[in-house]
Amino acid sequence: MKKITISTSTSYDVIIKDNILSTLNEIILEYIEPCKICIITDSTVNSLYSKKVKTSLESSGFTTTKIVFPPGEHSKSLSTYSNILEAIADEGLTKTDCIIALGGGVVGDLAGFVASTYMSGIRYIQIPTTYLAALDSSIGGKTGLNLLRGKNLVGAFWNPKLVLCDPTVFNTLPTIRRMDGIAEAIKCAVVTDNTLLCPIKNNSYTYVIGRCVSIKKSIVEVDQYEESLRQLLSFGHLIGHAIEKLSGYSLSHGHAIAAGMIYEARAAYNMGFTDNDISSDLEILLRSLGFTPEVSYTVEELMQYVVMSKRIQKNHINIIVPVEIGKCKLVKLNVSQLEEYVRLGKE
Ligand code: GLY
Repeated sequence: MKKITISTSTSYDVIIKDNILSTLNEIILEYIEPCKICIITDSTVNSLYSKKVKTSLESSGFTTTKIVFPPGEHSKSLSTYSNILEAIADEGLTKTDCIIALGGGVVGDLAGFVASTYMSGIRYIQIPTTYLAALDSSIGGKTGLNLLRGKNLVGAFWNPKLVLCDPTVFNTLPTIRRMDGIAEAIKCAVVTDNTLLCPIKNNSYTYVIGRCVSIKKSIVEVDQYEESLRQLLSFGHLIGHAIEKLSGYSLSHGHAIAAGMIYEARAAYNMGFTDNDISSDLEILLRSLGFTPEVSYTVEELMQYVVMSKRIQKNHINIIVPVEIGKCKLVKLNVSQLEEYVRLGKE
């Protein structure tokens, strides 16, 4: 078992342990007294793990209720959000009850945002069931929803009470979901630690999750609200989110981020922000892992969503610039140069 404590505006533990789902009740009881717990999940995860979680919690005196929504990025919407809020109010969830986000990134972001706003904020526990959610999105308290104008445009920082991660569940993930996690892990390697590349290639889940969580801990403990340092963790996401949105979310997050990282590395080099063009090495690496990181969209199409970035402050945006694989820096760009940056990322 590995326990990592994250100390930001609140402090919470991330516990990584094989088969944790079967002993969930014992661990949760160490953190909260028996209360009503609403399990929020999608229909895929519901059929795999909900029963185990519910049985375990009820054996320790928790009462449970459950809300299930369709899987996929389209559920990260205002309408699913309001349906969930109405449902938990109908269930009589009170301020001292708790939510469990059981699932991948969509479930975690949505259930976390529900928790951040219901009765002005209630406790929630993240139980990530995808590699991506375990190593990135369940950590750091970012919650949110998509708008028609772009991804994650509504949200709040709201820390979980606890994060429980069982790496054995990743053995049964479909390849596309596993690759979502691989792309985020590669991002982490490019931003801070190239020694992660080998364990990522070997699918050493427990090691990679532990290392990515530790890296994220060291970043969010300095900059919880993403005012500077935390923006490094968005490498590949400026272009990646635009690609995802332009594809109508038919392209998986991992593929979009893989393409976004190569694109942003090339743009940074061509803008003269770094002497080192890592885009070719990154492309070789990502192709060897099964990604097909082409970007078929025009500069104009990408720009529609790039200009909606939350990183834009006044007339500047921080661009993430790879100095080498394992080290990135932030460079301030005037928004008037954003189109040039996007154009120079095109092959
Ligand atoms: N996924 C990047 C972050 O949480 O900041």
